[in-house]
Amino acid sequence: MSIDRPRLSKRIAAISESATLAVDAKAKALKAAGRPVIGFGAGEPDFPTPDYIVEAAIEAARNPRFHKYTPAGGLPELRQAVADKTLRDSGLRVEASQVLITNGGKQAVYEAFAALLDPGDEVIMPTPYWTTYPESIKLAGGVPVPVVADETTGYRVDVERLEAARTERTKVLLFVSPSNPTGAVYARDEIEAIGRWAAEHGLWVVTDEIYEHLVYGDAGFHSMPVVVPELADRTLVLNGVAKTYAMTGWRVGWLVGPQDVVKAAANLQSHATSNVANVSQAAALAAVTGDLSAVAEMRTAFDRRRRTMVRMLNEIPGVVCPEPEGAFYAYPSVRELIGKEIRGRRPESSVELAALILEEAEVALVPGEAFGTPGYFRLSYALGDDDLVEGVSRVGKLLSEAR
Ligand SMILES: Cc1ncc(COP(=O)(O)O)c(C=O)c1O
Repeated sequence: MSIDRPRLSKRIAAISESATLAVDAKAKALKAAGRPVIGFGAGEPDFPTPDYIVEAAIEAARNPRFHKYTPAGGLPELRQAVADKTLRDSGLRVEASQVLITNGGKQAVYEAFAALLDPGDEVIMPTPYWTTYPESIKLAGGVPVPVVADETTGYRVDVERLEAARTERTKVLLFVSPSNPTGAVYARDEIEAIGRWAAEHGLWVVTDEIYEHLVYGDAGFHSMPVVVPELADRTLVLNGVAKTYAMTGWRVGWLVGPQDVVKAAANLQSHATSNVANVSQAAALAAVTGDLSAVAEMRTAFDRRRRTMVRMLNEIPGVVCPEPEGAFYAYPSVRELIGKEIRGRRPESSVELAALILEEAEVALVPGEAFGTPGYFRLSYALGDDDLVEGVSRVGKLLSEAR
């Protein structure tokens, strides 16, 4: 009888809420209630979208062409502009027909795995991972296979560890540099070694390049299919305007890859969501055809905050934070503090410790459980300098009470 059937499908019931969005929402709600909460949860630049991009959107909103459906795979001029931008920024040469414009990088992640995976296919997933990856892989019927790296290797995996996780069901390697949540950036020779290994074993690579312009110090960004060209026909590159142009709310991303896969993903999108909002696509067009001065300005601010945050975190007894070289996150280990007494309580996990910090210090951080590694926190440094110093000081003061 249908009455006995579960209300939700197993597939959807198994998806967990995005922990990063949940922490951010809780911090914003407390703030709205008048509490002086400082949030390190957000995965977005604290800058507004540059004016010239907003102006392009306003103009587009007045153009009747954009009041109608446009091709599901994206505005032709934006697909071409993304192809041109990809060559400019990473050196990968692609045609407009190899670009699919998606509803943010998130939809590109989902569609990449949906297009590649059959039930039971395994995806090797370096861990700590961004929360959305395992859920997208599972939704597509795939099996995420975590390969953990900790602070002793700067959260970077190597071929030996990857090879230990490979089985005959492995179809895809997920590769993300700079990384969310750790800020790790792989060197060119590391990318080459990993890429050659993937090519040798006939694996597909899904590589997320959304933080390509946010690298600091001596670190450099390198695109895996450029470093290992023989991989190009089996690589999907994911990217978007969110982080580079402070455009998280506009929802424009893209997937770049071999034509057959891009066409298949476009077919899926044509039934799921159709074209991305045209006004947003017009804004993205202005962004990717413009220069990179806005991201250069943000990078300077992020770099300054990064150094302040890492220094302050490492001064807290029991906290160990390797220097992140990219994105806008620090990922300190707090393993030594788990189980210690703080203000009459003994948090037994980083989730519990994060809850204690929110209550006692009014600071929101995302616990490492959200990224597959309990015992860590992710802190975004995409917030104002004063709030950053105040927030980390409060955390330091509280954690220094640990006994
Ligand atoms: C690694 C990574 N990839 C993709 C995205 C997707 O960004 P959006 O969907 O806002 O374009 C994010 C956002 O947090 C991210 O951190």
